[in-house]
Order: sequence, then structure tokens, then C-alpha cells
Amino acid sequence: MANPLRIGIAGLGTVGAGVVRILQTHGDDIARRAGKPIAITAINAKDKKKKRDIDISKYKWVDDPLAIADAKDVDVVVELIGGEDGTAKELVERALKNKKHVVTANKALLARHGLALAKLAEDNNVSLNFEASVAGGIPIIKALREGFAGNRIEALFGILNGTCNYILSEMRTSGRDFVAVLKEAQKKGYAEADPSFDVDGIDAAHKLTILSALAFGVKPDFDAIDITGIRRITAKDIAFAGELGYRIKLLGITRRIGGKIAQSLEPCLVPIDSALGSVEGVFNAVFVEGDFIDRAMLEGRGAGQGPTASAVMADLVDLARGYHLPAFGLPSRELGNSKWASTEDIISSQYIHLIVSDQPGVIADVSAILRDFGISIETMIQRGRDPNQPVSVVITTHECSLKDIRGATAKIAALSTVAEPPTVLRIETF
Ligand SMILES: NC(=O)c1ccc[n+]([C@@H]2O[C@H](COP(=O)([O-])OP(=O)(O)OC[C@H]3O[C@@H](n4cnc5c(N)ncnc54)[C@H](OP(=O)(O)O)[C@@H]3O)[C@@H](O)[C@H]2O)c1
Repeated sequence: MANPLRIGIAGLGTVGAGVVRILQTHGDDIARRAGKPIAITAINAKDKKKKRDIDISKYKWVDDPLAIADAKDVDVVVELIGGEDGTAKELVERALKNKKHVVTANKALLARHGLALAKLAEDNNVSLNFEASVAGGIPIIKALREGFAGNRIEALFGILNGTCNYILSEMRTSGRDFVAVLKEAQKKGYAEADPSFDVDGIDAAHKLTILSALAFGVKPDFDAIDITGIRRITAKDIAFAGELGYRIKLLGITRRIGGKIAQSLEPCLVPIDSALGSVEGVFNAVFVEGDFIDRAMLEGRGAGQGPTASAVMADLVDLARGYHLPAFGLPSRELGNSKWASTEDIISSQYIHLIVSDQPGVIADVSAILRDFGISIETMIQRGRDPNQPVSVVITTHECSLKDIRGATAKIAALSTVAEPPTVLRIETF
């Protein structure tokens, strides 16, 4: 058999340990598939003394992660430290400059610095692979770079964060509110101690940035995404949505609108009986619409040791086979400067949840404001009858622009009878 592909792994946490575990479990099969063995020639993590649940005694430990980028016996640097700057970025840059291929799961790094890193890889004639950065065990990067390469992609949308999907699913099935379910998710290890990256939508937006660049052949631009997380979603919203035939999902959506691309990351209502409506718990799902494929859906575990390490291995097998593609599917100089559409141009039906004083005339005032903005009401639900207590009023609208709904709800929020800022969610039926 051919000489091994020699890899140096920086980071032996959830994903790094998973990569070691896969190689220890399936090393022989992988060598047969790849045409050569994949051999670990250097490892590093922050704390050498830390107890790990994998046996790393036979691998060479290096004290400085950057030394992996300089090592003569390393062909591929596997960066599994994480973080958009700092050691991870330094390591990846140094490895590429030293003409070593890089495999990483680091979506934050790619969303922020993907273009510069892709260019650096090309300048040095090496590969930058990142299948594990988006949707764990779902091979969506490969699908976009290769499987769908014959299409003009029109839209891509999906559930890209398992933690949020788990929280929303649990809120629905248990009827509990966000804070209680988040606490439980943290106890179970589904949410980080600092959950903000997940629940505020940043993590999913990093992934959407990468997918959007791949789908449309444009420069990755994290700042062009409108991001709203799930903190303001209440158990009541989820129950009302259910009553209306919908589930609430945190959706990443990127699609062509005229000559522009609109990207958004926000909680939306989707029909219960739709494919997205039935994706529950920690699962992710991505839909891709192309002019020749029509629509394709990929679903699976979006994170965790096994699925993410499996994606890292797929990239390593590609490199062992001598298979190299530009990072974003085409040379970085060919990546376009996208015209990003304002999300205000998006047309859809809307869900509005108002907390109002139970007084005569409130509904008439709200209806009049909606009418003034040309927004027609599809359904209205009012719950509770108590002149001393605020009550919930839920309205769904026919299609209107986000600009109009924002204008109308700003006026509605200013009514003296409206107790809290309204919750406004897009209804997406795709
Ligand atoms: N976990 C997932 O399900 C998942 C899914 C998709 C993508 N990812 C991405 O995969 C990457 C790794 O995530 P993870 O969950 O495996 O993280 P993790 O469990 O926190 O592991 C991080 C590893 O990096 C090491 N490390 C931290 N700072 C370091 C430094 N300055 N120098 C050298 N090593 C350092 C840690 O060392 P010690 O072990 O000694 O503390 C640890 O081994 C991240 O980019 C993440 O976004 C993770």
C-alpha cells in the first residue's frame, strides 16, 4: 500500500477525540477505501495531563500547536480547537503558508475569514476542507460543491442548530418556557454553559454564511445576515402556532430575490405537516432548490462527536485519495461580490402576538393600522377575558412585505393598550 497520509491533530476535545476514535476503530477499512493509511503523526491540546477517554499514548504529543504546522512529518493539519481568531486562526494560516492541507470543523473561523483562507490555500496549492463545519453528519458541503454543481441554486434553507431545535421541540412537548428548557438542555450537555452563540443564532448564521457562499458562488459575508435568535419565543407562541397548524423553527434561509440574495436567520412558523415541521430534537435538515434538481433535502445529526468526526474523516479520505477542490467550489478570484437584498423586501405571511389590555376598541385600532399599511388579516385568536389582566391576541396576515409589517407593528407597539413589544414571526411555507 502507498505511503500514509500523515496528519497532525490540534484539539482533542469532542471532535478531535472522535477523529482519533474513528481511526482506531476503522483505520484498516479507511486505508482500503482511501488507497493509503491515514496515520496520526502529531497531536496537541491545551492540557497534556487531562484525562481523556481515548488512548493517545502511542501518538507523538507536541507542546505547541503551531509546531504541527511546521512539522516535516505532517501532510495535513487538522484544526479542532475552535474560535474565529487566536490559536486556531494562527495555526490554519501557518499550515497553509507551509503548504500543508488543512481540515477544520471551525465554522466561526470560516464565516469570518473564509475568503482570505481560501485564497491562501490556493496561493500555496493546498486544500482547505471543512465538511464538519456545517450540519455535522450531513454531507451538505460535498453536496453543494459536487453533487449539485450542475445547477443554478435558487434557494437553500434549513434547521442548522441542533441546540435551538432541541429547545423549541422540548418547549412544545413539555409546555415549559425557554429559560427552564435551556437549563435542562445545559444539564444534559445539549447546550453550552454560555448558550448565547447557539440561542442568539450566531452559530447557525456562521453555517449559513458558508452555505450561502457555496450555493451561490459568492464571497462569504457573515455581516450580510439578519440574525434573530430564539430567546423571545414563549411557550404560548409555540402553543398558538400549534393551534394554527404550525411549528416554530429557527431557520437559516438564503435565496435569490431578483438579482440579489437575501439571507436571514430567524425563528419562523412552518406547517406541522411539512418536512421541516417534523424535524425535531437535535436534528438538522437542509433543503436545496436548484433549477435541475428541483428540491433536495438532507437530514441528520448536526453535531456531537460521531457525526462531526465522521465529516472530518470524509475530508481526510478525499485528501488521501488525492482529491482536491477549491474551498468554496470555485477559485476564490471567481467568487462574486453579491448584492445582498434587504430582508425588508421579503414577502411572506406573518404571525403577530400582541399582549393587550382587554378593552373595547383595541382590536379595531390594531386592524386599522394593519389596513393603513395594506396588510390583510387571515386569522385572529384572542385568549382570556379579564378587564384587569393583559390578554393575548394572535393575528396571522396574508402575504405582505417585511417593511410593511415592521412599520405596522412599530405603530401597534406604540398604542397605549399594547403592553409589550409584539412578537412578529414569518410564516414560511416554501
Ligand atoms: N462539538 C460539536 O458537536 C461540533 C460540531 C461541529 C463543529 N464543531 C467545531 O469543532 C471545533 C472543536 O469543537 P469541540 O466541540 O471539539 O471543542 P472542545 O470539546 O471544547 O475541544 C477543544 C479542544 O481544543 C483544545 N484547545 C483549546 N484551546 C487550545 C489552545 N490554545 N491550544 C491548543 N489546544 C487548545 C482543548 O484542549 P483540552 O482538551 O486540553 O482542554 C480541546 O482538546 C470547533 O471549531 C467547533 O465549532 C464542533
